[in-house]
Amino acid sequence: MKAIVYHNYGSPDVLKLEEIQKPTPKDNEVLVKVHAASVNAYDWHLLSADFFLVRLMGGGLLKPKNTILGADIAGRVEAVGKDVKQFKVGDEVYGDTSAYGNAGFAEYVSVPENVLVWKPTNLSFEEAAAVPMAALTALQGLRDEGKIQPGHKVLINGASGGVGTFAVQIAKTFGTEVTAVCSTRNMELARSIGADHVIDYTKENFTQNGQRYNLILAVNGYHPISAYKRALAPQGIYIIVGGSPSQIFQGMLLGPMMSISGDKKMGGVIGKPNQKDLIFMKELLEAGKIVPIIDKRYPLSETPEALRYLGQGHARGKVVITVEQNNNI
Ligand SMILES: NC(=O)c1ccc[n+]([C@@H]2O[C@H](COP(=O)([O-])OP(=O)(O)OC[C@H]3O[C@@H](n4cnc5c(N)ncnc54)[C@H](OP(=O)(O)O)[C@@H]3O)[C@@H](O)[C@H]2O)c1
Repeated sequence: MKAIVYHNYGSPDVLKLEEIQKPTPKDNEVLVKVHAASVNAYDWHLLSADFFLVRLMGGGLLKPKNTILGADIAGRVEAVGKDVKQFKVGDEVYGDTSAYGNAGFAEYVSVPENVLVWKPTNLSFEEAAAVPMAALTALQGLRDEGKIQPGHKVLINGASGGVGTFAVQIAKTFGTEVTAVCSTRNMELARSIGADHVIDYTKENFTQNGQRYNLILAVNGYHPISAYKRALAPQGIYIIVGGSPSQIFQGMLLGPMMSISGDKKMGGVIGKPNQKDLIFMKELLEAGKIVPIIDKRYPLSETPEALRYLGQGHARGKVVITVEQNNNI
């Protein structure tokens, strides 16, 4: 089969389309013919090993341990191991393979069945592949860490990217009043996905306008953690998803310390793939309450371009890889 492979850390230039062995499913595994994958900042971090921590956390100290990237996939079941109970050949599925070494930028991937859920019936493979990592991170940040409640005033900073476009829509399904923060060119997009208020970060600093929020999800951009704290209403919660390294450091390490005194909680979320939340998302997607926003689509052979584009930090929604079979090398 064809796959996008990397043998050294580096820029997208190190990614090559290669012919490699098609995986054989183990007893508990499902072999999926990948129709689409999506690109996440996670892939970028594993590719570049820009955070040294990536290497220590199992990426491989000098060289990548897993040589194929691509967490999010959607495709059709090609074969099942003898212990697989939930799926049969031909089922259309989607999921996040990151807990099992990724490998979605390929024509086939073999993963344990608990990675997968039936694909939402109303979505194309590309739309389904856009969902898992970004949507589950947004969901877990808002619901599990952020304790979102109907009537809350919720602010999403970085509302126009992969995670942000899901976060705005998910927050609306909880009956909240959502403020989206994005740049001028994305204001209309933010309104179209349900934001009640939109703040253009190039013109206004939301931490200084006197508004207070019950929940702030910080997806992209930078503000000092003290400014986020000031923008919280009493008993408000601030959750960091991503952004600049100092943003992440402050949110994940200083945040819990700053939460010891006072009634505001500051912390972060690390998205955890799981079937229950994928099913939760499938129901929202099938009900039409959430629509994946796709910025660009690239064929498998152009995965390096897709990563370069994502790496510029200005994607509008998700960047998707369409995995046609018989890719030319
Ligand atoms: N914690 C986790 O488990 C987890 C999971 C997934 C992702 N992440 C992290 O979350 C972050 C976002 O991921 P993503 O997939 O949403 O990224 P993305 O799709 O690349 O985000 C791009 C968006 O960010 C916006 N943006 C850039 N600078 C901004 C600023 N100063 N203020 C507000 N918005 C700004 C851009 O809007 P403009 O073009 O208008 O500037 C663009 O729409 C990344 O750091 C990623 O590593 C964490």
